Amino acid sequence: MAAGLRFDGRVVLVTGAGGGLGRAYALAFAERGASVVVNDLGGDFKGYGKSSSAADKVVSEIRANGGKAVPNYDSVEDGEKLVKSALEAFGRIDIVINNAGILRDRSFVRISDEDWDIIHRIHLRGSFLVTRAAWNHMKNQKFGRIIMTSSAAGIYGNFGQANYSAAKLGLLGLSNTIAIEGRKYNIHCNTIAPTAGSRLTQTVMPQDLIDAFKPEYVAPLVLWLCHETCMENGSLFEVGAGWIGKLRWERSLGAIVRGKDQPMTPEAVRDKWEKVCDFNNASKPRSIQESISVLNDALSQIESQGSISMNSTNSRSVVSSAVDTTSLVGRELTTKDPDHLKFLFEGSEEFCCLPTFGVIPAQTSMFDGVPSIPGLDMDLAKMLHGEQYLELYKPLPTSGELRSVSTIADLLDKGSGAVLLIDVNTYCGKDLVCYNQFSLFFVGAGGFGGKRTSEKAKVTVNPPKRPPDAILSDVTTSDQAALYRLSGDWNPLHLDPSFAALGGFQKPILHGLCTFGFAARNVLKQFANNDVTRFKAIKVRFAKPVFPGQTLQTEMWKEGNRIHFQTKVKETGDLAIAGGYVDIVSALDKPSALEPTAGLQSDLVFEEIGRRIKEVGHELVRKVNAVFQWDITKDGKTAVQWTIDLKNGSGSVYQGPARSSADTTFTLSDQDFMDVVQKKTNPQKAFFSGKLKVKGNIMLSQKLEMILKDYAKL
Ligand code: NAI
Repeated sequence: MAAGLRFDGRVVLVTGAGGGLGRAYALAFAERGASVVVNDLGGDFKGYGKSSSAADKVVSEIRANGGKAVPNYDSVEDGEKLVKSALEAFGRIDIVINNAGILRDRSFVRISDEDWDIIHRIHLRGSFLVTRAAWNHMKNQKFGRIIMTSSAAGIYGNFGQANYSAAKLGLLGLSNTIAIEGRKYNIHCNTIAPTAGSRLTQTVMPQDLIDAFKPEYVAPLVLWLCHETCMENGSLFEVGAGWIGKLRWERSLGAIVRGKDQPMTPEAVRDKWEKVCDFNNASKPRSIQESISVLNDALSQIESQGSISMNSTNSRSVVSSAVDTTSLVGRELTTKDPDHLKFLFEGSEEFCCLPTFGVIPAQTSMFDGVPSIPGLDMDLAKMLHGEQYLELYKPLPTSGELRSVSTIADLLDKGSGAVLLIDVNTYCGKDLVCYNQFSLFFVGAGGFGGKRTSEKAKVTVNPPKRPPDAILSDVTTSDQAALYRLSGDWNPLHLDPSFAALGGFQKPILHGLCTFGFAARNVLKQFANNDVTRFKAIKVRFAKPVFPGQTLQTEMWKEGNRIHFQTKVKETGDLAIAGGYVDIVSALDKPSALEPTAGLQSDLVFEEIGRRIKEVGHELVRKVNAVFQWDITKDGKTAVQWTIDLKNGSGSVYQGPARSSADTTFTLSDQDFMDVVQKKTNPQKAFFSGKLKVKGNIMLSQKLEMILKDYAKL
């Protein structure tokens, strides 16, 4: 008996299992431990006659191999009777393979009513009746797997098979809806379009192809789709000769062909035809909601046309005639946070990718792998995203092809559940761009006697006990999860109420990784000047769910280069993210600070000193009590002036000469300044070698070291 994917205890009904593909499925399921109902009416390939011998023969084969099987000789048109056979013989029904079929090929006009009807009765209605009979049993036991058998003739059309094509594609529609209705009961339905040598293809395929396209090259796909660990649902596959491919819909971007308050005309359709049919940048809608959303967008676009003239469908002015063009000139492109354009607009000169986006490619790769980990029986419906660690080795590219490699780092037994640690390395070409560690908690999968902790786990760190150094709030919108999904995190838990209910939530919850993104953005803003190159690593624990519409409050503490944080739901006070931290690179250590492409290296240091003074300026003012002006030169000329005011208020740093008078003015080159702050030389040495010129109170320059020493601690 075959090991690997097993079906012990499962009861499978295969219709039309007396020969061809159905026989191959029945034998394969039985070989892997399933109890099989071998149904076959036993007529000829056009559906005439009946006999028990086809089903009996396959049952004998299974039993001879040591498997469990019973025959059923009813037509699929008696769906209830087939399911009754399963219940009577084995007490349950887990898997239904709708496979029985006949052909009545005729060119379109020669199709008789009878030939049309019988094809629909056997293929489409038969599959409906058998599946309906099994449905409530599957629903009650919260498990079911269903296969519909379509055909390339239905997908693409085939001469002489109009009746068959129509019924076969009808099965895809049936499957698509069953998949949606069954999801919350763990009933999955998928469709296959097989190609195999059988008596149905005997008249159209040469013998060598019939021999080469063995039904055994289709059966393994059907088995995998029906296994309890397979999460595939509502999909369509072409399969044959040992090859399998998945199909999906593609839709052109399309075109709006009418204007506000204007009639829609066939001429406008004709004139936009090329655009309507242009598959460049096509979308791939996966649900009726996605399909319809484009219509809503079109409606609002049409409604917002205002006075834009649509008289000619060919030419359309980009500027409404009602707008005074002079008021547009010089207007800045704006976002809520003025410097966020670089995160949002691909045309921005500084366009860059938020570091936390590094989880997305890794997640996609990981989820492709989790359901099929051999030896692990993990129920994805009971999976919680427990913790996340992300480390960047270079800023994420704004375009390019990424490749992620996932490995199981460890499996822990936490009693109430199991924790699966998955490490994912993501590469761009040969370069390692980032490393993720996902910590996935499987409720109820613990107690297997494994270890509780792992030295490989990246751990969270509690924040300091003092009040936070900074708190930033973000109000999420009720569409937040729907919007975040567009980053590529498709889990229906965050959008589909029935799926959320299955996970025990009253309504869809916000992605933990969305909250994580908000928090990271706040840290970047508050402590790294929104500079993505300074973001090194982040760790979080997802403590409680957030619902879209709630307010997130990120509390942050700076401890050297580590920013501790936690995120609370303002409305409830609950901790959504606990023990979080972001490690940043100080402006000094940043590689680009040493090799600036534009501007001066010292700018970054002054900016960093400025931030530091915001925190501890009060103390420095007390100790230093002086105003320092810096004239930084480049190529022998003063390139920029900076002032460090440690005399007034709680201190400040700004560009330009001292607003009050400077106690001491230093002049030195950008490079020498960097050498001083990086301790490659000290201020005295620089002074005596003539690199540093000092005007004013020279004694105060001694305090300079104190600032820089203090600064060096950053
Ligand atoms: P097949 O003729 O060997 O098997 C079909 C089986 O269904 C036969 O054993 C037949 O007796 C049984 N059957 C017919 N009417 C029935 C009824 N009313 N109730 C119960 N059993 C009935 O043909 P094959 O190729 O194995 O076809 C299996 C399925 O795959 C069919 O649905 C067919 O349309 C589909 N298909 C096959 C392709 C191929 O290349 N072989 C291509 C595309 C689709």
